[in-house]
Amino acid sequence: MATRILVTGGTGYIGSHTTVELQQADYEVVSIDNLSNSNIGVLDGIESITGIRPFFEQVDCTDKQALRAVFEKYPGIRAIINFAASKAVGESVQKPLLYYRNNLVTLLNLLELMPEFGVEGFVFSSSCTVYGQPDHLPVNEDTPIKPATSPYGNTKQICEEIITDAVHAQAPYKAVLLRYFNPIGAHPSAKIGELPLGVPQNLIPFVTQTAAGIRECLSVFGDDYNTPDGSCIRDYIHVVDLAKAHVAAVGRMLSGKSQAPVEVFNLGTGRGLSVLEVIDTFQKVTGVRLNYKIVGRREGDIEQVWADPTRANRVLGWKAESSVEETLLSAWHWQQQLGKNNK
Ligand code: UD1
Repeated sequence: MATRILVTGGTGYIGSHTTVELQQADYEVVSIDNLSNSNIGVLDGIESITGIRPFFEQVDCTDKQALRAVFEKYPGIRAIINFAASKAVGESVQKPLLYYRNNLVTLLNLLELMPEFGVEGFVFSSSCTVYGQPDHLPVNEDTPIKPATSPYGNTKQICEEIITDAVHAQAPYKAVLLRYFNPIGAHPSAKIGELPLGVPQNLIPFVTQTAAGIRECLSVFGDDYNTPDGSCIRDYIHVVDLAKAHVAAVGRMLSGKSQAPVEVFNLGTGRGLSVLEVIDTFQKVTGVRLNYKIVGRREGDIEQVWADPTRANRVLGWKAESSVEETLLSAWHWQQQLGKNNK
């Protein structure tokens, strides 16, 4: 019988790509989502890639009774991958309590239900935001955590602490904390990808929408940083590579190979790219000219960060394989596909 995994936030951007990779590695996925930031049509995309429709329940993870009903309906869930969370930095500053409620209550509910239903492993979506602006680059997992600069970032830090405390208090499960750098791109089939609601806050959806003529002009937030071309540097990782790391993490936990009850991994490429380099590469690989202008810095942005992914490479046996060219092209193909669907 296939190993059953619960994916929360399963129709979201990273959740949907991870569902595909799990299914392709012969796991059985039970997907749940409250559809607050995704739509049910994503299941069709998943099914058309893998030939398998995941089990799906529309559930809000802050509703413990509804969550319990999922575990009762789908017995034998061995691990949870928790993507269900609010994730917009700016919005979290405006609505902190919403962020604390969604992200913390979801986590507490899941962790409390795990022993009841014998779930053995928990994978948490964390973020490089926990490092703030690191003193040394690249950042490995031992880099000190800096005070959070937004309620969103704070929820990631608090959730990491809650999980660690729970596991250290002899919880009967193991956990993996995955710190994502900047996930971008889309499945090469262009059947699933990122679906931002309204005006995109993140760079790549804004780039592809500008290229598609949906947005008039891309604003580059600052060219006076202490970086070679003055724009901010990030470690952009293909979402499919990121998804594959979850499969590796679940496999490691369930096969009993984990050395510690809580393991932490940075998921990045190890390569930093500036905003202007992203624009330049996007134009080269797509042949589309981007209308952009330099504007002032965005409040709260850090100057530069990229990963040292050595631990994930060595311990998980996982590596980000895609080039930035392929990754940006996949984002563009997805944008073009979206355009066709809207015509
Ligand atoms: C941040 C967080 C990340 C979080 C994500 C969620 C850090 C290091 N990263 O990512 O943990 O998951 O938000 O939203 O805190 N940019 C422009 N113009 C735009 C949009 C962005 O120039 O229209 C620039 C930004 O200034 C930044 C880069 O592009 O330098 C990437 O921005 P974005 O995609 O929003 O991600 P982060 O802010 O790095």
